[in-house]
Amino acid sequence: MAVDHEKIRLEIESFSAKTEDELEGFRIKYLGKKGVLKELSAQIKEIAPEDRKEFGKTLNALKQAVQEKISSLKDSLSEEDGIGDEKKDQTRPSGTEDAGSRHPVSMVRREIEMIFQRIGFTVAEGPEIEDDWHNFSALNFPEEHPARDMQDTFFIEKDPDIALRTHTSSVQVRVMESQKPPIRIIAPGRVYRNEAISSRSHCIFHQVEGLYIDKGVTFADMVQTIEYFAKAFFGKTKIRLRPSYFPFTEPSAEVDVYWGLENETDHRITKGTGWLEIMGCGMVDPNVLKASGIDPELYSGYAFGMGIERIAMNRFQIGDIRMLFENDIRFLKQFKGAW
Ligand code: PHE
Repeated sequence: MAVDHEKIRLEIESFSAKTEDELEGFRIKYLGKKGVLKELSAQIKEIAPEDRKEFGKTLNALKQAVQEKISSLKDSLSEEDGIGDEKKDQTRPSGTEDAGSRHPVSMVRREIEMIFQRIGFTVAEGPEIEDDWHNFSALNFPEEHPARDMQDTFFIEKDPDIALRTHTSSVQVRVMESQKPPIRIIAPGRVYRNEAISSRSHCIFHQVEGLYIDKGVTFADMVQTIEYFAKAFFGKTKIRLRPSYFPFTEPSAEVDVYWGLENETDHRITKGTGWLEIMGCGMVDPNVLKASGIDPELYSGYAFGMGIERIAMNRFQIGDIRMLFENDIRFLKQFKGAW
């Protein structure tokens, strides 16, 4: 008797079905009214009373083996060819992927580009892996300037002359070296700084640099262009310039737009001052023109540079800069159709 059970168990376990009908036949064979298990349980009368408990256990185990077999075959059949609880419609379009959207940094970058393209600027690009000349020396950084320090710059270990660019001002130099004035470019791109990661700073971010070189370009031209930008991008008409320092511009300034102080948000955004800092700017230092092969006696120009992340955070009311780098689809989805 024990041998019989073992044989049945092996039969059950080795069974496989290619169609739903075959599987149904298997179910009837074992679990049907006249099925193998019914017949076996009828034998209980012939079993000695003390062995009946053991016999019952064996029967239950067989029954369970049949049920498990059926459910696993059902799963694999429905995966293979649509046999399952409900027939699959093979003509149905496949499910859509959860798509993200244009990244907020890209949206803001594009918007800035378009604003400047309207007044004759073209987009210029340069390499993210730069040499010392284009990132520092040609931009009039003194040898001992702290920005050259290992703290701020990611240098390539084997060659201290090569680094990841720390600003898009390097593109200024490349364009001036290769083009004759008038030059009117906007250089957006990724930049790298070796700073501690906190909620406020990040090692990788994006800047847009602007450069205009021609005969007789003045500080007033620069102010007027920045005013135009502040109006076009922020819808704000009042700006102010605070004296500042950059090695590559002289004089240099920081630009603030007057944001207003009407509500809670204005207070938070402007830290209670009503002013929002948006960029650095200045007249291109004659040393930079000279280093790039442009005669400072004939030409003058201005440059400005701004960080895209900060502006994007402001535009979309994003509270933490890290959200811009995590690429969490739940975050990115919120910008669908925003631009
Ligand atoms: N390159 C400067 C920075 O990274 C910004 C800037 C660009 C300032 C051009 C003046 C002129 O902070």
